[in-house]
Amino acid sequence: MSTELKGKTAIVTGASRGIGKALACTAASLGINLVVGARNFDPLKEAADEIAKQFKVKVEPVACDVTKLEDLENLVKVAKDKFGKVDILINCAGVSSQYQFNEQPIEDFEKLAHTNYLGYVRLIRLVINDMMKQKYGAIINIVSGSTLVDPVPRSFIVYSSLKVGLRAFSKGLFWELRDHGIKVTSILPGVTDTDLTGKLKNITSDTSRLMGTQAIEDAVRFALTVPANVCPLEISVINQQTPWTAPVIPFKQSHPGK
Ligand SMILES: NC(=O)c1ccc[n+]([C@@H]2O[C@H](COP(=O)([O-])OP(=O)(O)OC[C@H]3O[C@@H](n4cnc5c(N)ncnc54)[C@H](OP(=O)(O)O)[C@@H]3O)[C@@H](O)[C@H]2O)c1
Repeated sequence: MSTELKGKTAIVTGASRGIGKALACTAASLGINLVVGARNFDPLKEAADEIAKQFKVKVEPVACDVTKLEDLENLVKVAKDKFGKVDILINCAGVSSQYQFNEQPIEDFEKLAHTNYLGYVRLIRLVINDMMKQKYGAIINIVSGSTLVDPVPRSFIVYSSLKVGLRAFSKGLFWELRDHGIKVTSILPGVTDTDLTGKLKNITSDTSRLMGTQAIEDAVRFALTVPANVCPLEISVINQQTPWTAPVIPFKQSHPGK
């Protein structure tokens, strides 16, 4: 992929707030035009207007639920109609759910799988053939630092195991596409202070331990600007200190013998 990014087009999902919005700003700061997606249009439009004004790029907001195939198709269609092509995809839309497994609502599984795994994979499938034809493209998947732990963290196993699957998929995709000029990078963020982790302030007595989005933005800027013949396959940016100073979810388990 050319390292000249000015005027290229990126789709960023989950761009109305949190990590996705921060990464939309990172891409915009490199001169990349954007199509941004999230379910709720008003905050998305507000973010899009703010980014366009600050970075002097074109930013098109599209209401999109990544669990719905037709919404993903529309997102790609808007990008192609408006800008002619998709050069970069930043897959970030995600939801969290922390429960002890036996107490986790059954509806959660489908929502997590459709948002955090299938939403990513389907959107990649919708842009990948054009990227192969144009012989360049960059796919950035926001995975999770929880995939670095084996076994995955308790009270977080459905979310984390889907992210493990996403991480495995991303690596496999790179090997399949490396000779087509397409980069695939997984970002593994630590516990980051966003709405997704809204209760963080209740579980730390030391807010300086909470990570902001800056290091994730730096990682994505690095991934997008390395020389064309290099691909950063995975970048982990993890909290220097354990972020929680109180239990995240008290884990209830009695010894089977008792
Ligand atoms: N925060 C962390 O500690 C952390 C750590 C590791 C990995 N991550 C990952 O980073 C990503 C972003 O997390 P965040 O902390 O920035 O979350 P956030 O602040 O809650 O933002 C989530 C974004 O995704 C959008 N979204 C949620 N469900 C969607 C759907 N079905 N379709 C389209 N958009 C949807 C939201 O907008 P709408 O609600 O309007 O749709 C919002 O823009 C997620 O994939 C998460 O797993 C986060």
